[in-house]
Amino acid sequence: MQHTIKVNDTAFQVHTDGAGSPLVLVHGFPMDHHMWDSVVPMLAQQHTVITPDLRGFGGSGGFCEIAPMERFADDLIAILDQMDITEPITFAGLSMGGYIGWQMWKRHADRLARLILLDTRAAGDDEIQARARRVNAEGVLANGMSGVPAAMLPKLLSEATREHRPDVVAMLTEIILRQDPRGVAAAQRGMAQRADVTGWLAEIDLPVLVLCGEADSISPVAEMQGFANQLPEGQFVVIPAAGHMPPVENPAATSDAILAFCQGLPA
Ligand code: MLT
Repeated sequence: MQHTIKVNDTAFQVHTDGAGSPLVLVHGFPMDHHMWDSVVPMLAQQHTVITPDLRGFGGSGGFCEIAPMERFADDLIAILDQMDITEPITFAGLSMGGYIGWQMWKRHADRLARLILLDTRAAGDDEIQARARRVNAEGVLANGMSGVPAAMLPKLLSEATREHRPDVVAMLTEIILRQDPRGVAAAQRGMAQRADVTGWLAEIDLPVLVLCGEADSISPVAEMQGFANQLPEGQFVVIPAAGHMPPVENPAATSDAILAFCQGLPA
């Protein structure tokens, strides 16, 4: 079901499916809730699955100059409040969604039952990465989104997915092309200034599932395993046949791991 949730002057598009304890799936950059389409039917058999479009993405408004991860997290809480969802949620975020997940814990821990971090990083950007993001932000504002899929897909998808799964390539290309450059630029600037959360890891005292595609080149297995080991209640799972985007590259293994973890089983 599609909902338009008004928070102050901003209209957010939020989708819900299924019934059960709330599971919020937060998309990566530069995408929208459709990146979860292949896993929602499986997850919705056991959960109320809530897939918002973040500020400036998909069907949501709220364009701004810089969209810090903290602001995205606060938006999500305001959306849950508007939807009368007070039960602690399972939060799952991929990549940029994971950066927002850290802020959900820091700012709104009482609203979380557990945390799922897919293909994301705990470290912040170095100077070179942050500068590249600011340049990219100017680039999309000046030139639009047409060049973005060619630049990003080789990093987002494994080589095998790119060679053998034209359906996945086409789906992700379509999602990226329809994003608004203003939302994309704001998120790039926000990610450039995001916190390094490595120092928080030992304090995150709730169950956390860390998922990583075996061929992820943006947040590689060794890096993710490294921070998962520092989480007091962390579990680490490698998803085979996937790069940075396990929910689209291997939806069955991704949903199985999420469902097992939510039931308190080893993922
Ligand atoms: C994402 O998938 O959200 C991006 O790879 C995040 C990033 O650019 O760091």
